[in-house]
Amino acid sequence: MANLLDHIQPTLLMGPGPSCVYQEVYAAMAKPTLGHLDPYFIRIMDAIKVQLRTVMNTKNELTLPMSGTGSAGMETAFVNLVEKGDRVLVLINGVFGKRMQDVASRLGAEVDVLEFEWGTPVLPEVVAEHLKKSSYDIVGIIHAETSTGVRNPVQEIGDLVAKTGALYVVDCVTSLGGIPVTMDSWHCDVLYSGTQKCLSCPPGLSPVSFSDKALEKLKKRKTKVPNWYLDLSLIMNYWEGHTRAYHHTAPINMLYGLYQALDMVLAEGLPAVFKRHEEMHQLLAKGLENLGISFYVAPEYRLPQLNAVTIPAGVDEAAVRSRLLDEFHIEIGSGLGPLAGKIWRIGLMGHTARPENVERLLAALKKCL
Ligand SMILES: Cc1ncc(COP(=O)(O)O)c(C=O)c1O
Repeated sequence: MANLLDHIQPTLLMGPGPSCVYQEVYAAMAKPTLGHLDPYFIRIMDAIKVQLRTVMNTKNELTLPMSGTGSAGMETAFVNLVEKGDRVLVLINGVFGKRMQDVASRLGAEVDVLEFEWGTPVLPEVVAEHLKKSSYDIVGIIHAETSTGVRNPVQEIGDLVAKTGALYVVDCVTSLGGIPVTMDSWHCDVLYSGTQKCLSCPPGLSPVSFSDKALEKLKKRKTKVPNWYLDLSLIMNYWEGHTRAYHHTAPINMLYGLYQALDMVLAEGLPAVFKRHEEMHQLLAKGLENLGISFYVAPEYRLPQLNAVTIPAGVDEAAVRSRLLDEFHIEIGSGLGPLAGKIWRIGLMGHTARPENVERLLAALKKCL
């Protein structure tokens, strides 16, 4: 019988994630699987924690990759922090803010939201006014809103939240490795990300970091963390200290991949990586302008790694995406929720953000339009 894997067509991944994976990461993932308590593997785990602290710009001891995709990171943040009746404020301007609201609500938190128009950023002045009137245990925000291509002002919001004593949760799924992430300077207490966006590793792990203040809340819980798999108080015993107690079998080869991806990012250097994303974004913007395609988001709030563009009038957007995939082997993303049919989402994440890829997409788009 034919093996389906023999017929996978290499695709240029220029959607909202996953992004193109470094060959070195594929090679790393094909290395021999070690036991999850093998001392050599534990050395790799320890190295990953150091790499993650560097890319996140944090000194937090509790920094590790959770097994699962970015949504597992989101669940980890809230399931470990929230106890029934805790007051949570979620700042929403897209699909992933909505998901955060849903996750916190399912845990019995009293969730308030401030919602901003999709395609525009969260406004610090509105948040400041609101925080004068209401107090919260946790405030959550998405740094890079993948559904709209908007960069939220997480530093300004963090400065406001810090004055209230609430814990500050920031989703960096699409930002880590693409634009600067400075967890400690943001006064961020919980940060989570994903491997398949600007880190250019396949999907499957979610790096998270908890501040001492967040850890304190976890330690003082009156009730057990309601999810066994994501309970950091148990997982910590595997990732830290001398005992290294079994919790669940770590996804060994995924962790090799993450180690290699972080090694690639750090070898290139974070400033150079961010510069490359910005330059590729400018190159794409210029090319799209020549094709008469405009951006959905105002220039000052655009994410270089996720370009939301308005579908030109009269264009069958699904047909263009299908042709790009079938004929040119390029994937771009459609709009989500209320933006379905209105925008395309063009990703320039991690290893995808290269001039040859931008040129290839522009040439293909020109033919499709
Ligand atoms: C901002 C943001 N948060 C969370 C997620 C969820 O991540 P995953 O799909 O890896 O579970 C995504 C995925 O696209 C995202 O873009």
